[in-house]
Amino acid sequence: PKRVAILVSGGGSNMVKLVESMTGDHPARAVLVGSNDHGAGGLKRAEEMGVPTFAVDHRPFGKDRAAFEAELIRHLDAARPDILCLAGFMRILTPTFINHYAGRMLNIHPSLLPKYKGLHTHARALEAGDSEAGCTVHEVTAELDDGPILGQARVPVVPDDTPETLAARVLAEEHKLYPAMLRKFAEAL
Ligand code: GAR
Repeated sequence: PKRVAILVSGGGSNMVKLVESMTGDHPARAVLVGSNDHGAGGLKRAEEMGVPTFAVDHRPFGKDRAAFEAELIRHLDAARPDILCLAGFMRILTPTFINHYAGRMLNIHPSLLPKYKGLHTHARALEAGDSEAGCTVHEVTAELDDGPILGQARVPVVPDDTPETLAARVLAEEHKLYPAMLRKFAEAL
């Protein structure tokens, strides 16, 4: 099977869904979960599922993104990943890192790209008065939250939505979309 590594920064609910999806006749298996935060909830959840983990704290590296990323790459490549999934990984990656995994790195973003690249996507959708919101799985290229779109899922915006209620509605769709798009990507690789 294809070997999948996943990077998280937070609770890792998308990571859990990806790992859980890779069983049986699935063309891929989770081989490693990494984070920029030793305290990320996702690391504990990965360990509970029996997936090896690592963390590289970005803070001691200061502005030296190249050195931070070299450490990430060292850990990741030891697991020989065929696919790298970003799942709520909240560090901006340099072109050097992105080129290293060119054609084999996926991301999930909580908006209907090309709308709302970057942060605070749900607040921005509400502020704009959008009637729908959603999420996007895309291949990672050098431009932030850009790159070929593999799939999107849409949800309605409802009266009295807050960024939190909308985020929860979108997250439920993320949990279905990302495993489906990873499967498709792994099958085609
Ligand atoms: C998800 O909503 C994901 O789309 C978003 O962070 C959340 C992580 O949740 N990603 C980004 O905002 C990327 N810039 P999770 O840790 O529970 O999967």
